[in-house]
Amino acid sequence: MNAEVVTIGLGYVGLPTSALIASHETKVLGVDINQKIVDTINQGKIHIIEPDLDEIVSKVVSNGFFRASTKASSADVYLIVVPTPFKGNHEPDVSFIEAATKGIIPLLKKGDLYIIESTSPVGTTEKMQKLIFASRPELEGTIHIAYCPERVLPGNVMHELIENDRVIGGIDEAATQKAISFYSKYVKGQLHGTNARTAEMCKLVENSSRDVQIAFANELSLICDKADINVWELINLANKHPRVNILQPGCGVGGHCIAVDPYFIVSDYPIESKIIGTAREVNNYKSFWCAEKIQNEKLQFELKNGRKPKTALMGLAFKPNIDDLRESPAKYIAQKVLQNSNNEEHFIVEPNIESHSVYKLTEYKEAVNKADIVVFLVAHREFLGLEIKEEKIIMDFSGVNKK
Ligand SMILES: NC(=O)c1ccc[n+]([C@@H]2O[C@H](COP(=O)([O-])OP(=O)(O)OC[C@H]3O[C@@H](n4cnc5c(N)ncnc54)[C@H](O)[C@@H]3O)[C@@H](O)[C@H]2O)c1
Repeated sequence: MNAEVVTIGLGYVGLPTSALIASHETKVLGVDINQKIVDTINQGKIHIIEPDLDEIVSKVVSNGFFRASTKASSADVYLIVVPTPFKGNHEPDVSFIEAATKGIIPLLKKGDLYIIESTSPVGTTEKMQKLIFASRPELEGTIHIAYCPERVLPGNVMHELIENDRVIGGIDEAATQKAISFYSKYVKGQLHGTNARTAEMCKLVENSSRDVQIAFANELSLICDKADINVWELINLANKHPRVNILQPGCGVGGHCIAVDPYFIVSDYPIESKIIGTAREVNNYKSFWCAEKIQNEKLQFELKNGRKPKTALMGLAFKPNIDDLRESPAKYIAQKVLQNSNNEEHFIVEPNIESHSVYKLTEYKEAVNKADIVVFLVAHREFLGLEIKEEKIIMDFSGVNKK
């Protein structure tokens, strides 16, 4: 197959993106270093959970518009959709983008379009431009380099890929226009042109904005705990003001975007990013605080009742109704509580996964029935409106019982 588009990275974003493009009868070669992923896709199957994606992949593989490989081949458009994790000190790790770029440099030819979609620290696109021209100086001024971040919400990716507005920043105006013209074939949302640095910062700022707003709610929850005020009721009442919209507190902030991307700003602009950095600290502290509160409650129980309590930890995922545990504050809290445990019994509950490599999971109703202390870490739908006997101690960090 002579591919028109090569996507590097076939994960939560790269695979749906490839499938969408291929569904428009554009020939796509998807590249991943993971042979198992490549084999699964070439059988017309998928390795991630995402509604509607299986059907589309099966169709585009069988009609020949999509194929996966561990090796890239020549195309007209290259999309880089590999992970951008952080290193030990919360510094962004762009080595995956670098490796993916190096892999396609020998294939580039005049007129090609190279786009980074991975969430990236500011300056990454320029850095890759330098990397490309250092080994292929003859291409300077002849290829188009751009950055176009992804904003999809897992669970609704196929819809959002098409409908969301996109921010597209080229290294120069010609690259921006070329990239806009490429996406316009597949995206119905508006395509907003800018430069690469602004587009990179835009993605980081979107997630930092969410993080800062959640930190405000989490800070309120700490204040209200001390002031003996129900934070859920307070926020509900404050939000009756026509220009106030406070988010809901939780047991921290998790996931691979909101809990990660702000560090890409803090790491590069530490002096200037006071609020963004503090928000990260507040949200991390909230998880630590929850773990300490649980510990304290358990000690109080033992003092009062002369026996150790049984504790149910309700939820491990990073947000309600999903099976994703990446950077999950609930998982962190469970870990801390178990570390400090003195042989008392705990029931770990996560209704969205069948089993866990570390934790023995308990069915949620059984856990609630057996526990003395029931701790709601995540507001999964199964937990809403659960009937819990009056004598049990309820610790609600997720708003399951909010007024
Ligand atoms: N998942 C989301 O909801 C989401 C939303 C917006 C933005 N993003 C961003 O998109 C990027 C990709 O995220 P994801 O969730 O799809 O990641 P992922 O971990 O699901 O998938 C990445 C894939 O890239 C592959 N890979 C790594 N290095 C490679 C290389 N050199 N060559 C070929 N394949 C390689 C991995 O094997 C993996 O399958 C990240 O920067 C992420 O922050 C993700």
